[in-house]
Formats: sequence, C-alpha cells, structure tokens
Amino acid sequence: MAINIDESFKYIVRVSTAGSVDDGKSTLIGRLLIDTKSLMLDLVKNIEKVSKNKGYSSINLAFVTDGLKKERDEGITIDVAYRYFSTSKCKFILADTPGHFEYTRNMVTGASLADKLLLVLDVTVGITSQTKRHLKLAGLMRIPGVAVCINKMDLVNYNQEIFNQISKDLVLLSTMYGLAFIEIIPISALNGDNVVNKTSRFTWYKGHSVLEFLEKPLMPLYEKKDEVRFSIQSCTPFDGLSFYSGFLYSGKLLNGQELMVYPYIKKVVVNQIYNLQGLPIFTSDNPNSISITLNSSVKTIKRGDMLVCGNQQPEVTHHFRLLICWFDPTTAVKKGRNCIILHQSMKTMCVVEKIEFLLDLNTNEKYQVNQLNMNDIGLIRIKTEVPMFVDKFQLLRATGTIILVDSKSFETLAIGWLE
Ligand code: GTP
Ligand code: MG
Repeated sequence: MAINIDESFKYIVRVSTAGSVDDGKSTLIGRLLIDTKSLMLDLVKNIEKVSKNKGYSSINLAFVTDGLKKERDEGITIDVAYRYFSTSKCKFILADTPGHFEYTRNMVTGASLADKLLLVLDVTVGITSQTKRHLKLAGLMRIPGVAVCINKMDLVNYNQEIFNQISKDLVLLSTMYGLAFIEIIPISALNGDNVVNKTSRFTWYKGHSVLEFLEKPLMPLYEKKDEVRFSIQSCTPFDGLSFYSGFLYSGKLLNGQELMVYPYIKKVVVNQIYNLQGLPIFTSDNPNSISITLNSSVKTIKRGDMLVCGNQQPEVTHHFRLLICWFDPTTAVKKGRNCIILHQSMKTMCVVEKIEFLLDLNTNEKYQVNQLNMNDIGLIRIKTEVPMFVDKFQLLRATGTIILVDSKSFETLAIGWLE
C-alpha cells in the first residue's frame, strides 16, 4: 500500500559562500557546523590541535573546510569544499568557495546550483569589486535566496550606523544587478553572533540569523514549479515491471499523472512512484531521486530521456546560445572547438560555432572577442551532434544549465546557461 507522504523526504537546501578574500566565508561555515553540533568531537579536537600547532591562540574555524596543507599554511581557501549538516527542517549541502579573483571558476562551481548564497563581506573593508562581481554572478545564476552577511561586526563594536550605510549601498547594487530581494545580516562569524544563535550584542537587529535565513522556505520567485522535469537515469526490469529511476528536477509528480516522453513525444501515465528506499508513495516533490512504473511498458525509454508535463514544453534543437564561465586553465575556447555537452543524464558532442561576446562583470560592457579564457564569462553559440531537449535558463534553472567537458581528458571545460 502506498504511504501518504514520503517520510524520507526532507527539504534539501544547497548553500554556497561567496565574497572577497579573507572576509570570513570559511569561518562562517565552521561556525555554522560547530554551533549546530554537526561536527564529531574528535574532528573538533583535531582542528583545535592543528590550530595550536600553527600558532593560533584559539580554534581556527576556517580549518573545518580549509583542509589542504597549502590552505592551512597560507590561511586561504583554494578548492571548493563541501560539507553536510541537517536540522529538524532541512538537509544542507554547503559549498565553501575561495574569494580570490583567480578562483572565480571555483566560486561559480559552488554557486551554480545553489538555492541559497551567503555572500560575506568584511565590515571594516566594505563593498569591494569582488563583492560586486559575486552579486552580479548571483543575479546571472538566478540564485533564488541571497543573503549578504556583513561580518566582523565585533571589530566595529556592533555599530548599527556602519551596518546601515553598507546595507543602503548593497540594496542599490542588488537592484541594479537584477536581484529582486536580498537579506542583509550583521554577524560575527568568529564570536558566533547571529550565525546560529542570536546574541544580545545585536539589540538593534530584528531580522533573521544566518541559520534562520537558510531554513526559510524559498519564495517561488523564479521557478515555475508546476513544470515537471523527470530525467531518466536507468531502467530496471523486475517482476514483469519496468522501473524507471531518475531525478525529479522540477515540478511535482503524482500517481496517475499524464506525462510526455522526450525525445519521442509520446504520452504515458505514471502508475506508481517509489522513494529511494523502494517504498511506494503517492506523490513526490522536487528535487528528489525516485523510481516510477508506467501504466504501459515503453521499450524505447532509456537513460537521458526526460518525462515532462506542464504548459511549457522543452525546446528540441541542435543550436544553442549559451552564457558560459570558461574553466579550463590550459586552453581558451574559440570557434571550431569540439567538446562533449552534458545535460542532466544526456550527453552528446558539440562544436562552438561562434563567440558572441565577453561580458565584463565590473562594467557590464560586452566586448567582441575571438576567444574566452579561464574565468571569463561570455556568450557562445554551439551546434550539437544530436538534437537536445532543453529549457531556457530563464524558465527553469535546473534544466537550463549544461556542462562542457573535454572529449579526451574528460576535464570540465565550462558551465553554461541556456539563453
Ligand atoms: P578565503 O577563502 O581565502 O577567501 O578567505 P575566507 O573568506 O574564507 O576567510 P577566513 O574564514 O579564512 O577568515 C579570514 C580571517 O578573518 C581569519 O583570520 C579569521 O579568523 C578572521 N575572521 C573571520 N570572521 C571573523 C569575525 O567575525 N571577526 C573577526 N574579528 N575576525 C574574523
Ligand atoms: Mg575560505
């Protein structure tokens, strides 16, 4: 018998940090994990020991995510570090990203699929060009929940006026960059003020703590949640039935629901949905990994196909315009470049037909160029070997994103958003 709600389903929130060098991103993540008691005691003890050996008078919270030797020696983040924790309401996937300009691609990697962005800035430094770049990128990547954490408030005696002045400028900037709404939270990551626990030092602040912001349900501002996109990862025959497993990127799936199979444009009806534990459920929300059976067996359905429902059908085409961030340090992208394009569980070869422009994030100017280098953001046109069925990034964030991969080394070359 099917159970009414999927008990295993807890709202999953992907969180990324952003901001300039040394603003306190890693310290904030360390503080979040320690104050929610998400770290094992022996790990805390080990970080305390390493901090002491490196000459710190107390625990260096940044070491919770800065695990590489070079990171700990130089006190900077280089690689994106992922950490996991959960509260009674949500499961969190945290990506701690570096603040250095030369690691822009790492920041984009962490933030590309984030539901929430914690853009940290140092109150004693104020808004930097990197803060602006990251705010602009948050707008480009359409991150639904953005909070600017004004950090190191302990160094300005928790002064409200300094906070208000920076906040005013941030609101102006975010409107300019197309971010409909941002939260601005005063914190001290070092002392733990307003991260998990609200403290008496911010008597003048009535808004959310960082954890409250992270747990707050997202406003359905950007996503058209009624568009169902279920990407097939495998088909397993069992007991005379075919079980289609995959990932529900968007929409809500119900038993008895009619769906269209892409690329065959064939109608099917969901017979039974199963959760990850194999238990039958009536309905599934996104994002979720599930299996389904259909009322009629469709022999052709295979990995890479998409089951779709909604007012907006995916576009089936060979030609795309993509806004990309080029990741590869060894080569630039030029006209004629061949590579693999990955879209959910679908993959095919593609060729770059044209570099349309390079976007300068500082000035918003577009430049006509012949190539894009590492960390550049620009618009390209590509042609794929087989037609793909995709959504525009403006319509659906999850299915409007692709990855370009080198066909020999399989290194990630770029992340792209479909225009
Ligand atoms: P990158 O990853 O290299 O860009 O740096 P980051 O933003 O992760 O900064 P990190 O967390 O490594 O902190 C940089 C320095 O700021 C460290 O010395 C921290 O102890 C200090 N710091 C972080 N948060 C606070 C705070 O709230 N108050 C004070 N006084 N210092 C802080
Ligand atoms: Mg860091």
